[in-house]
Amino acid sequence: MKTHISPDYPQLCQAVAQNVIACVKTKPDALICIAGGDTPLGVFTALVEAQKQGRVDFSRTQFLGLDEWLGLGKADKGSCREMVWHHFFDKLTLREEQICFFDGLTHNPQAECQRVDRYIELHGPIDCIVLGIGMNGHIGFNEPGVSVDNTCHVIDLDAVTQAVSVKYFDTPREVKQGISLGLKTILAAKNIVVMASGEKKAAIVAQTVNHPASRDIPSTLVKTVAQASLYVDKAAASKL
Ligand code: F6R
Repeated sequence: MKTHISPDYPQLCQAVAQNVIACVKTKPDALICIAGGDTPLGVFTALVEAQKQGRVDFSRTQFLGLDEWLGLGKADKGSCREMVWHHFFDKLTLREEQICFFDGLTHNPQAECQRVDRYIELHGPIDCIVLGIGMNGHIGFNEPGVSVDNTCHVIDLDAVTQAVSVKYFDTPREVKQGISLGLKTILAAKNIVVMASGEKKAAIVAQTVNHPASRDIPSTLVKTVAQASLYVDKAAASKL
């Protein structure tokens, strides 16, 4: 897997943003998927800035959500929907039909999975996906042990993910399940960017690179496809 090491977080975000911009320049109606969570926040800022400066035009681009906490919606600060809209979609002023995102408040999660799978059948495969890495190696909410044959699915969240989740929320939340694109869909993307920043991610980044590909550490599975690259800052690369 090709590895890009940037000196710091802002430059890492510029490098990942540049990758997304290149994809949209080649294919203006590309299907783009960018994770929620803290890691891509600077990428959102860089992409919004690029659109403002006329360096990219997202007016024909389609955006797909990667995952969501089941039971949380846009009104819940720290939900994927809230974070991605607040930092990205609202600032790009996209049309509703440009976005397909899991509804974490759905009363029928299976139907929600089918809805998003149908959308991907129609618009996919994903042209460019930007993933974060969980402390346990999850990508999206594909937790350790997950099947590589999954498309959209509901998943019980790992204890590590539940513990880490408190950092996103302003009030205590019991998040037990997530809804996520599956590895089958993720690994079929034409361009896969796995992104990590900071010293706290150094151990899992080293495992991602050095451990043989295994379902026990889902981030290692991206090495099984040629079109994946790892983008890290110096701190996240410090154990490589
Ligand atoms: C969030 C997601 C997760 C995060 C991962 C890293 O939509 O898919 O896999 O990318 O948990 O989270 P941060 O970036 O907050 O360290």
